[in-house]
Amino acid sequence: MDSRFRTFIWVFLIVTTIVVASFPFLPIPEKPVGVFVFLGRFHPVLLHFPIVLILLTLIFEGLGIYQKWSGNNKLKLPNLTALVGPLLLVSAISTLITVVGGFLLFQSGEYRGELVRQHLWGGVLLMIALNSAAFFYWWPSRQTNKKVQAPYQGFLFLAGALVIVTSHIGGTITHGADFLTEHLPSLRPEKPAPVELKSPEELLIFEDLVMPIIEDKCQSCHNQYKVKGGLVLTSYASIEKGGDSEKALITPHDPFQSELFHRMILPMNDDERMPPPEKPQLEPYELDLIEWWIQKGGEENMLLGESPSDTISTILDQYLPDLYQSSRLKMRQQQELDQLAEELEDLGEELGLVIELDPEYTGFFTVSMQIPPALITNHSLEKLRPYASLFSKVSLPGADIDDDALFVIGKMTNLRDLYLPKTCVTGEGLTYLKDLTLLENINLSNSELSNVGILNLIHLPEVKRVYVWGAETDTVVLQSLRAHLPEVKILEEEGEYF
Ligand code: HEC
Repeated sequence: MDSRFRTFIWVFLIVTTIVVASFPFLPIPEKPVGVFVFLGRFHPVLLHFPIVLILLTLIFEGLGIYQKWSGNNKLKLPNLTALVGPLLLVSAISTLITVVGGFLLFQSGEYRGELVRQHLWGGVLLMIALNSAAFFYWWPSRQTNKKVQAPYQGFLFLAGALVIVTSHIGGTITHGADFLTEHLPSLRPEKPAPVELKSPEELLIFEDLVMPIIEDKCQSCHNQYKVKGGLVLTSYASIEKGGDSEKALITPHDPFQSELFHRMILPMNDDERMPPPEKPQLEPYELDLIEWWIQKGGEENMLLGESPSDTISTILDQYLPDLYQSSRLKMRQQQELDQLAEELEDLGEELGLVIELDPEYTGFFTVSMQIPPALITNHSLEKLRPYASLFSKVSLPGADIDDDALFVIGKMTNLRDLYLPKTCVTGEGLTYLKDLTLLENINLSNSELSNVGILNLIHLPEVKRVYVWGAETDTVVLQSLRAHLPEVKILEEEGEYF
């Protein structure tokens, strides 16, 4: 090879390496230079050339190595290594142009941040690796001298790796981190699975058809917390068990001897009528369905497909669309609730709180202290604010909070129980709670509740019980407040918390 050509290439490589290596250390100008910004914006177009060229160089070099190593030319490939030299040169030139373009874009200040810096460094290191490979490539005795061949190939493969890493970071900057994996199912965070509904034949008459009606129209008074008439209506077993009167709720094949159905068809003015007259009543087709089910035997595991019948098909025509709609909704909600529960559990752990689903009020959460308790401040409560409407009970005995915390608590519109014993609450913030129409119990025993503070209870007419044991209030004040608010029980007891 002409030694003047070699010298020219070497000088070119050394100079460009030094220039490019200085890029990360140059200051960003206050005001971007228009023409530089213009040129910089070509970077996203230009970068495809070096990527393709460097990878091609690598492939050709790799094939050359393979041919040499396997000792024969079974694949009958032409001698591609001859192309490596020219390819290496155009790779270096196109990389230089791309890196300079990227640097101008960086200098424009349009792109900032850690990823952008990493991308710049990636480009610079790539340039250095590639130029080094080229430098050794044009070393006179390279092919016969292992000491030169090895660094040449090493730098070339390093350049290949850097191309991949740098373009990945670049892709992340322009397309977002999950651009590549977005449509790869297993790497994506789980979305709720599609809801699958049973076909009509697969429906269980009791569980899928009868139970939703009972849930809707009866369970508000007959559940494990509210057991009117000693009767729970949450499962087949509880229906079999019956209530205080010990009458059979289901007499197979005889709806009229079945207390469950019998009570639903009593006249409206009958005391025993269910649901009671002021409550939402069953639709005629819902009554028909329950009657038909008991007529068929009223068993737990009967499938709709096993009991074909004309009478029922007209009922189902009315019922199924609604049923499908509501069960689809319910399943969605359940999935969403599970996700939310996980999210809130994590948030709780982060703050040192226990946040769990409320076993009493479905879909709501309770907030309580960890054991042993972590330091809970007004600021910790502030973090709960985005979820405020989801909490039904808050129990923070001994938390390091004062009346400012009541401001966030005042946003918890579904709150029923608020237990803040042994806190610095004086009661002055109780006015923040005036929109909490469900709030029934407040525990402020052993707090700093003051005579002035407790007077704010007059703004909270819905509250039923307030515990003030050990607070700094005077008996006179308590007595006049009791006279003023006869509905509210102001109890000098320690009260509960959890
Ligand atoms: C608003 C509240 C409320 C709703 C809603 C309600 N019930 Fe009742 N239920 C009561 C009360 C109160 C009693 C106890 C008084 C009585 O026996 O009538 C009772 C008692 C009963 C009993 C008698 C239990 C026993 O053995 O003594 C049955 C059966 C019953 N309900 C069925 C139903 C069914 C079925 C529904 C829905 C279709 C329903 N209830 C909806 C309040 C309700």
